[in-house]
Order: sequence, then structure tokens, then C-alpha cells
Amino acid sequence: MLFAAMIQPFSMKTILIINGPNLNMLGLREPEIYGTLTLSEIEGQCRQSAQELGFTIDVRQSNHEGVLIDWVQEAVLGNYAGLIINAGAYTHTSIALHDALKILRIPIVEVHLSDPKQRESFRHHSYTEPLAKAVFKGEGLSGYIKALHFLAQKPL
Ligand code: DQA
Repeated sequence: MLFAAMIQPFSMKTILIINGPNLNMLGLREPEIYGTLTLSEIEGQCRQSAQELGFTIDVRQSNHEGVLIDWVQEAVLGNYAGLIINAGAYTHTSIALHDALKILRIPIVEVHLSDPKQRESFRHHSYTEPLAKAVFKGEGLSGYIKALHFLAQKPL
């Protein structure tokens, strides 16, 4: 009995990765800006890195603002070790997403494949940045990998 109580069920910590609108089109979408990797290729690389760091990942993508908010709310009630978010264009427009992220108690890392601050002025403001513990931008896939390392507290 005592022995059984000492053996804790092994549960790997999970990091939630939320991708916003048009990121499902990576590979086809403006490759000169976003590169040629598809979202599922990015997911595969993240899965491998996460595994090396002792984490699992839950990767999602939606084109719908409300769905992204539902997933953030799910994370409020869930058991995630952290959130990596690339909200796509909603980064620059969504006060609702900002409000949802404000409720989260787990660390948030913002990622962008491109560097929005080096692009059109309408991309310069981020509603997610004030809530993020770190932002990785302009580094393509590496930004996601660095975000995983950041959440694992193991800098690359
Ligand atoms: C993006 C940058 C945003 O400005 C843009 O709307 C995107 C992608 C990026 O990953 O570089 O959809 O978030």
C-alpha cells in the first residue's frame, strides 16, 4: 500500500501552442516572408524538441478569433505548463484575445515567424505582447523552438 502510494503516475507536462489565422497556409503563403515550411512540418520539429526537453505539446490552429479565445479559456482551466501563441493578424487587432490571455496564470510566449515591427505600420502594435514573458520574432521555426526552450527554462 505504502509502496503504491510512493509511485506517482508519470505525467509529462504539456505546452499548448496556438496558431492563428492563415498560418494553416504556411508553405504556400508568401514564402519570401514566412519561409517554405508547412505548419505540420513546424509542428513536427516542435514535437521533437519538446520531447527532448521532457514535454509534450498540444498544437492547434484556427482562423476564427472566438475559437482562439475558447482555447485560451480552456488553458485557464487546464493543466498546461505554458502557452506559445502566434495569433497571426489577431495579434494586432484583438482586444478580446488580450482580455482572455490576461486571465491565464501560466507563462505566455509570443512567437512570430516574421518580425512584424520591421513590416507595415499596422503590424507594429501587439495586443498579446504586454502579457507575454518573452517574444521571439523574425526567426521562423527557430522562434517556436526558442519559445519551447524558454518555457523549459533551458535557453538555446
Ligand atoms: C505573423 C505576423 C502577423 O503580422 C501576420 O498577420 C501573420 C503572421 C508571423 O508569424 O510572422 O499572420 O504572426
